Amino acid sequence: MFLSSLIPSAAVLLSLSSVTHALPQAQASSTTTQQRTSTVSLSSSPTAATSSPIACNNSPQLCSRAYNNVTHMGAHDSAFLRDASTSNSIAGNQYYNATVALSAGIRLLQAQVHDYLGGLELCHTSCALLDAGSLEAWLAKIKYWLDHNPNEVVTLLLVNSDNKNASDFGSAFESSGLDTYGYVPTSNSSTKDWPTLQSMITSNKRLVTFIASITPSPSYPYLLNEFTYVFETPYDVKSLANFTCDLDRPSSQPSAAGAIKAHMLPLVNHFAYTSITSDIEVPNVSDIDTTNSPKTNITGALGQHADNCTTLWDTKPVFFLVDFYDHGPAIATADRLNGITAVGRIASSSSAGAEGSGVGMVRDRGAMGVALLAFIVGVIAVV
Ligand SMILES: *[C@@H]1O[C@H](CO)[C@@H](O)[C@H](O)[C@H]1NC(C)=O
Ligand SMILES: *[C@@H]1O[C@H](CO)[C@@H](O)[C@H](O)[C@H]1NC(C)=O
Ligand SMILES: *[C@@H]1O[C@H](CO)[C@@H](O)[C@H](O)[C@H]1NC(C)=O
Ligand SMILES: *[C@@H]1O[C@H](CO)[C@@H](O)[C@H](O)[C@H]1NC(C)=O
Ligand SMILES: *[C@@H]1O[C@H](CO)[C@@H](O)[C@H](O)[C@H]1NC(C)=O
Ligand SMILES: *[C@@H]1O[C@H](CO)[C@@H](O)[C@H](O)[C@H]1NC(C)=O
Ligand SMILES: *[C@@H]1O[C@H](CO)[C@@H](O)[C@H](O)[C@H]1NC(C)=O
Ligand SMILES: *[C@@H]1O[C@H](CO)[C@@H](O)[C@H](O)[C@H]1NC(C)=O
Repeated sequence: MFLSSLIPSAAVLLSLSSVTHALPQAQASSTTTQQRTSTVSLSSSPTAATSSPIACNNSPQLCSRAYNNVTHMGAHDSAFLRDASTSNSIAGNQYYNATVALSAGIRLLQAQVHDYLGGLELCHTSCALLDAGSLEAWLAKIKYWLDHNPNEVVTLLLVNSDNKNASDFGSAFESSGLDTYGYVPTSNSSTKDWPTLQSMITSNKRLVTFIASITPSPSYPYLLNEFTYVFETPYDVKSLANFTCDLDRPSSQPSAAGAIKAHMLPLVNHFAYTSITSDIEVPNVSDIDTTNSPKTNITGALGQHADNCTTLWDTKPVFFLVDFYDHGPAIATADRLNGITAVGRIASSSSAGAEGSGVGMVRDRGAMGVALLAFIVGVIAVV
């Protein structure tokens, strides 16, 4: 059945050849390289009688922290799943969906948005390869989660693959109802003056939306052009020894140090690809436990990358993006940087039993992956 879902022939052939640099954050080729923590009450202890009992982003300690003084762990390609809904597509980057991720502590959700028959659709590289449905439906689920988790600040990073305009995106935000949470910065340029999480929660403007890239519109002031505010490290890494803290985008900044000096928010891309042909890259799943490890002394581990960048930049990364966030678990590295012990989360593989079956499923996925790879390689050979 996963084959049949791939077989819509011509489109698939085209999409496979366009998987060339199926790099999730890459824009259309025209661009340059371009918890459920619903208010958790802590039982007051005699020594902590005066501290806030309410958690913000899973910790009372984060309420008074500025948005840009918090490390937000992110799910890369969070709409693109490797699960039953996609017949375990090897193009998938996550085992769990975006709202399950939020409940597990993820606070940055990234996805690609494409034009599909005039509408905005969440597609991985091409809608023929992996179509995760309409942007509006996905935003509505995030809206629902925010409605039910009133003390949480969430960030979206949407890749504008087909150069749609602000009113196209704004329509999806308005019809999903998510626009009501849209945070509007006080500055139209990068700034060090971000509000505290508590202030965003109190004003109920708890959603920060970056789009790569968009021309801002006064009608939708909460749709922020990513590279006005954020800089990124390289995203096309194929060896665990090759993660760096160098600036990759935007090219308008000279270096990571320069971007930090300009108060841009640092985003660390921390996911590794495997080339399955010279033209096709898929997430390197075999090493995911090392890649997402919180350890600081293993080459390629998330914990080590975090420390490297913190040292080199003399400031902590504000955002990370990882694949398969439940492995590591990735959130442990954000917690360490934030200096918190989190409350109110629902782990995505919450019980030992679930963990055990998860491993079994990974093996199944591996087997299907091999079959699928053979299929793709066959198709490429035919082309
Ligand atoms: C960031 O938060 C830490 C911990 O509360 C605090 O010590 C530090 O001064 C803050 N940094 C800035 C720039 O506000
Ligand atoms: C994630 O899965 C849960 C459980 O099936 C569902 O309730 C929720 O709407 C899904 N969220 C998204 C973003 O698809
Ligand atoms: C935005 O693009 C749509 C087509 O996607 C077009 O109909 C609309 O006029 C454009 N709006 C603006 C303000 O450019
Ligand atoms: C930012 O730019 C928008 C136009 O996109 C404008 O409406 C708004 O007033 C500007 N905000 C500030 C703080 O300058
Ligand atoms: C890692 O980086 C080195 C040095 O830039 C490069 O020669 C090598 O090809 C890279 N490895 C992979 C697998 O991309
Ligand atoms: C995944 O990465 C590791 C370390 O870089 C490498 O040894 C392994 O061969 C990669 N897996 C695949 C399938 O390429
Ligand atoms: C990393 O450090 C831990 C102790 O924190 C140690 O047990 C482990 O052997 C170290 N691993 C490597 C690869 O050095
Ligand atoms: C951290 O920096 C060391 C020293 O430059 C380098 O060898 C290692 O690969 C880096 N690791 C990560 C994950 O960035």
